[in-house]
Amino acid sequence: MYQVLARKYRPQSFAELLGQEPVRATIENAIAQKRIAHGYIFAGQRGTGKTTVARILARCLNCVEGPTPHPCGRCSSCLEIAQGNAPDVIEIDAASNRGINEMRELRENVRYRPSRDRYKIFIIDEAHQITNEAFNALLKTLEEPPEWAVFVLCTTEAHKIPATIASRCQQFAFRSVDFGVLVGRMAEICRAEGIEADDEALAVLAQAGEGSVRDSLSALDQAIACCGQRLTGPEVRQLLGLYSLETLEKTAAALEGNSPAAMLEIAADLENSGRNLQYYCRELCRYFRNLLVAKIAGTPTRLIAAPAAEQARLAAVAGRFREEDLTRWLQISLDIYSQLQYSLQPRLHLELGLLRLLYAGRLQPIEEVIGALAGGGAPAAPETAGGAKQPAGGAPARMAAPAAVRPAPVRPPAAPPAAGPAAGDGSLKQRLTASLEAMNAGMSAHAVEASEIRESANAVEFMAPRSSHLALRAPDVGRALEQVLGRKVKVVVSEGGGAAEPARAGQGGPERNEAAERALEHPAVRRFQELFPQSQVREVRNLRED
Ligand SMILES: Nc1ncnc2c1ncn2[C@@H]1O[C@H](COP(=O)(O)OP(=O)(O)O)[C@@H](O)[C@H]1O
Ligand SMILES: [Mg+2]
Ligand SMILES: [Zn+2]
Repeated sequence: MYQVLARKYRPQSFAELLGQEPVRATIENAIAQKRIAHGYIFAGQRGTGKTTVARILARCLNCVEGPTPHPCGRCSSCLEIAQGNAPDVIEIDAASNRGINEMRELRENVRYRPSRDRYKIFIIDEAHQITNEAFNALLKTLEEPPEWAVFVLCTTEAHKIPATIASRCQQFAFRSVDFGVLVGRMAEICRAEGIEADDEALAVLAQAGEGSVRDSLSALDQAIACCGQRLTGPEVRQLLGLYSLETLEKTAAALEGNSPAAMLEIAADLENSGRNLQYYCRELCRYFRNLLVAKIAGTPTRLIAAPAAEQARLAAVAGRFREEDLTRWLQISLDIYSQLQYSLQPRLHLELGLLRLLYAGRLQPIEEVIGALAGGGAPAAPETAGGAKQPAGGAPARMAAPAAVRPAPVRPPAAPPAAGPAAGDGSLKQRLTASLEAMNAGMSAHAVEASEIRESANAVEFMAPRSSHLALRAPDVGRALEQVLGRKVKVVVSEGGGAAEPARAGQGGPERNEAAERALEHPAVRRFQELFPQSQVREVRNLRED
């Protein structure tokens, strides 16, 4: 019968254990000094050795030569523990035995001396799944444990273990195993199994586990079942739904070239070749993560689970992008990934997501703009993602606007040019105000309302109180006039005008208008309007009043 590799190659001693050096050193020392606790919590990612170490610990404690950090491996205790049928080592899967009854049974069981060996060891897997009542029962036992009882709680979610329990246990954190170590282990096991695997295949298997030895070994099982005795990188990658660097580099190239068409090609290729879009997206997240790490930490680095040659390629690509862009893309790709999991239209979601990546690269960081405003200097011309200049006629820099000054919404289509000259002041004023309101230029609309308007052949004069002048000079007024009159005219603003203050501005009185004027004249506001000609000041509020 075929025994899965993970079980066949379970380490039987600390010497065979990969990684987890701190755990190992602490436990070895404690045993050597005969300081044995009644409760242990082994916490960490799955497949990193929690159950394995719990069993090794059991061996250390119950070996006929023990307690010893170096169990003999030959006595019946050692052998039975390896086979999982030692009478005094009780393994409980809390995922299926999580209730109070099981814990009561356990409490009963704890009270009896070990049937043969020194200690009675309870290994509770998935311990975070135990119910509250059951935890309470366990707590009673941990508060006054019989001298022979040792509990090992294994969990991937240590934070779900109640503090009352945790404080009575020694905690150990199991870490994911380094890429290089995993590759070595895969090579060893392949050799022992008579499997020929090329370096790339070994690297892919190690990557597939994401730090979990068990997951890498399961991937190896799968590869052997599918590809036989000879494993090659591309085959294994295809089998596991992993993507080659080339595929992912295409996405980077589309970003660098600022090419939506290339992005859509990528989505189409994936779908046409029947690839799983979600896997792709997961790989894309990892890719951006690795690019970012390469950028920040430099390569080669332990932080990236990839062979040196692959890391060099990552570094080369990362060099062409900015850290902020990579960060944003990582964030977006994570979003796409989570959306894709629930999507009924994965292809559409992916396409949209890929385009979002592209557009996000063109955003100019708001910090830069604000920094430039504060410093008085002009911000650098917006760069495209790759640092390449904006293509001629390209979209203007988009930016995430701060809450206070929102860019104008998409303009309504221009009103058809008026059929003849304006009939008179009254109707021109109304139409102009309406047009400005439609543009969301409320301040200018008020100002127009408050003015007396005189129209001549090539100019329109607004006579208004000084407080309205700024709003009348806003470019919106010119635009609205052009819309209403169907031709370009000069805007003249002059003092005077008999019209009363507009009703709405009356809310705050004249001081309010003065404050607005001062705000609008502020150099930073002006500069902002220059930089973002489409932006509009909708409202000026005195923060001290609010
Ligand atoms: N640190 C490790 N060193 C060597 N092999 C490991 C390690 N962690 C896990 N394994 C392999 O994975 C299998 C499952 O490990 P296990 O200890 O049950 O993981 P966990 O309990 O952390 O989920 C083991 O049988 C072994 O083959
Ligand atoms: Mg386990
Ligand atoms: Zn022994």
